Amino acid sequence: MTAFHYQDHSLFVEELPLSQVAEQFGTPCFVYSRRALQDNFLAYEKAFSGSDHLICYAVKANSNLAVLNVLAKLGAGFDIVSGGELERVIRAGGDPAKVIFSGLGKTEDEIRAALNANILCFNVESEAELLRISAVADWLGKTAPISLRVNPDVDAGTHPYISTGLKENKFGIDINRALSVYEQAKTLPGISIVGIDCHIGSQLTTVAPFLDAVDRVLQLVDTLSERGIKLTHIDVGGGLGVTYRDETPPDPSVLVSAVRDRLGDRALGLIMEPGRSIAANAGVLLTRVEFLKPTEHKNFAIVDGAMNDLLRPSLYSAWQDIVPVETNRDDIQSYCYDVVGPVCESGDFLGKDRDLAIAAGDLLAVKSAGAYGFVMSSNYNTRNRAAEVMVDGAQCHLVRQRETIDYQLSLETVLPE
Ligand code: LLP
Repeated sequence: MTAFHYQDHSLFVEELPLSQVAEQFGTPCFVYSRRALQDNFLAYEKAFSGSDHLICYAVKANSNLAVLNVLAKLGAGFDIVSGGELERVIRAGGDPAKVIFSGLGKTEDEIRAALNANILCFNVESEAELLRISAVADWLGKTAPISLRVNPDVDAGTHPYISTGLKENKFGIDINRALSVYEQAKTLPGISIVGIDCHIGSQLTTVAPFLDAVDRVLQLVDTLSERGIKLTHIDVGGGLGVTYRDETPPDPSVLVSAVRDRLGDRALGLIMEPGRSIAANAGVLLTRVEFLKPTEHKNFAIVDGAMNDLLRPSLYSAWQDIVPVETNRDDIQSYCYDVVGPVCESGDFLGKDRDLAIAAGDLLAVKSAGAYGFVMSSNYNTRNRAAEVMVDGAQCHLVRQRETIDYQLSLETVLPE
């Protein structure tokens, strides 16, 4: 049984009705299932069993401390992109020795903090960054373990905003120039070359682009080896997609075993950085219908969740399923609705053209909202960011309080008289 399922016409998360969660914590509210998170992570672990590997959960997908803590307890490593994410991992009980630091604008402060925490590896995105890491490490009297993120120029076949492995993207070092950058890295103080990495995009639904990238990266690995630059790991990034609607992404086991095959007998540890495939389907956004607004052209269901809570539909025209929490509404006629929030933008919608039998006051769940949901939320329209709740069996834990207006305004001041 999946973590989110209907029981007696009522949507449950694990052993709890979502209506009870809404009652207790209000809406809008992100609800995560501990079991789903664990199962999704363990699916990767199982696929890797018996091989030298590390699964570095991409913190950006959902960085709530409780989420990180659940994964840390399972032995996860973490892929971070800022000093803030490093701090989260440490405070959630994650092991810095299993942290890799991605991202293309690492500041001196962030590099210093990561060196002091003795992280596993810096994934370097440019020569300028390499020089900065070398300088900071040298100054601290430390050695920075590094990997170069190469841009293999493959088309991930995904939305242009979340495609990262094409040569016109800002990410990584052109694979054709990487050899000379490795040669340069070898000569720099404070630098120890340990790996190579790539990440070609997100929400990939076939294995082919991954393998395309891996093949190109392995060619370079072999050339490096001939030149005396021996790596200890290859990191193939994240990017495995999930089913939002009718996509049929491969199971992690299929992806992992295909990549392992490609590595052959090279003595390389394998790192992956999955985010979405661990967190997305472990969460929903729970929202309540405020009003129904039929017009001549459209029916609108105005709900209390909005683009500031879940930006994906507005930003990428992403489709996420929207389902009623209670389905025993035989008394109500179904209509086709645009499910929209109260934010003053026409682009503020959670879903368009959805057939729903609902009345004002009903609860809806926007599915697959566990990844790139809360983390992309904002205070636009001075809306308090939503509460986050994690369900564990029949227990329900508030893992981030709903913001208050006092909290929001506490950092602001008016000019002096
Ligand atoms: N590693 C790196 C270097 C990344 O840039 C990303 C995601 C990941 C790993 C994790 O990728 P995943 O397994 O989650 O696909 N906000 C967008 C997604 C942006 C992804 C950014 N990078 C969305 O909501 O679809």
